[in-house]
Amino acid sequence: MTWAQAPLNFGEWRTLARRHLPKFVFDYVDGGAEDGLTLRANRQAFEATQLKPRVLRDTSVIDTAISVFGCNWRLPFGVAPMGLNGLVRPRGDLALARAAAAAGIPFVLSTASNERLERVRQAAPQAELWLQLYVMQDPSITDQLLRRAKVNGFDTLVLTVDVPVSGLREQDLRNGFRLPFRLTPKLMADLIRHPGWSLRQAVAGQPKFVNLVEDVDRTLSAQAQAALLARAMDRSLSWARLGQIRQSWPGKLVVKGILHPEDASLAVKTGVDGIVVSNHGGRQLDGAVSSLNALPAVVRAVSGCIPVFLDSGVRRGQDVIKAMSLGASAVFVGRPLLYGLASQGEDGVRRVLSGLEEELQRVMTLMGMPDLHDVNEPTAHAEIFQS
Ligand code: FNR
Repeated sequence: MTWAQAPLNFGEWRTLARRHLPKFVFDYVDGGAEDGLTLRANRQAFEATQLKPRVLRDTSVIDTAISVFGCNWRLPFGVAPMGLNGLVRPRGDLALARAAAAAGIPFVLSTASNERLERVRQAAPQAELWLQLYVMQDPSITDQLLRRAKVNGFDTLVLTVDVPVSGLREQDLRNGFRLPFRLTPKLMADLIRHPGWSLRQAVAGQPKFVNLVEDVDRTLSAQAQAALLARAMDRSLSWARLGQIRQSWPGKLVVKGILHPEDASLAVKTGVDGIVVSNHGGRQLDGAVSSLNALPAVVRAVSGCIPVFLDSGVRRGQDVIKAMSLGASAVFVGRPLLYGLASQGEDGVRRVLSGLEEELQRVMTLMGMPDLHDVNEPTAHAEIFQS
């Protein structure tokens, strides 16, 4: 691919991002845990799933909209929560939120974000904004986050439950990934090879986890920052604590990181409003089942009580339809958007999103599927063929 050519797909965006980002940042975004088994399994599951198109149906008008929690999404996907977006591009959270708002889809702000949630709301006043929560050892972090989220119209809380401890990302260890960066000769060489990224970071300053404290002027505890970077969470988090969060949070509550159908049933019993079937993009438990393969059993366990979303490995329009055909109400997309952000800032995110939209429309047309009303009925527009 030459510089003059616009990337056409995930692989090309990834190649472009690799050129723009220092190696330690690219590896942080791109990598999975340990041997990358689950990272690869996510893609293999999509590749092993085949669609069954219907023909001779009127597809002269294609409607990609869905309704979730009473809100209209123009497309059946949202932006997954990702921490440290400011490392990919300064103001990365704002760029993602604005691009999502322009596309008419939700943006999930991570607890490990680098922009104050108040600022994200200002940048995207009309956007559908959700907040992802990591429950850390210091309970004051959760309390103040929930208070601010309520005031700023982050109506849905996404509680991530698959990070009692960080997955073992060996590439990050090898790269000496840490914040603030320590300038080793290896890192210096990496920075010199990526002058655009280095200059932008030098002007903006190193990204910080600015949402951990309520008072903008309070100095952030270095300890809390390090704990979040290392994903040192409250390991005593349990179903009972989820029940308490349910009681105290008046908005919609979604649990992210469910793979087992019995956990899905427990989540329904605890009163959550939605589930994200996710293995964290293969970044947590290596060897865990792919999200797509876990989906049908979770959908059966939930039996229509609440929406079931999916993330991990969605790269093309056809993947959205595959997941929805197997029962997902919508999907979330992670890395592809960061590759757009890395290469071309907010414009890049918009391009990745519109590329996905175009693909989705083409797939729906070829599937004989003018709208998404009955795509996730269990009439099987898709089947998983295990090799
Ligand atoms: C993540 N993910 C994530 N999830 C979460 O709940 N809170 C977080 O802070 C983060 N941070 C994060 C950083 C980066 C760089 C990546 C790539 C991912 C996981 C994310 O929400 C989602 O589950 C996966 O990214 C989905 O997989 P794909 O689309 O990247 O394959």
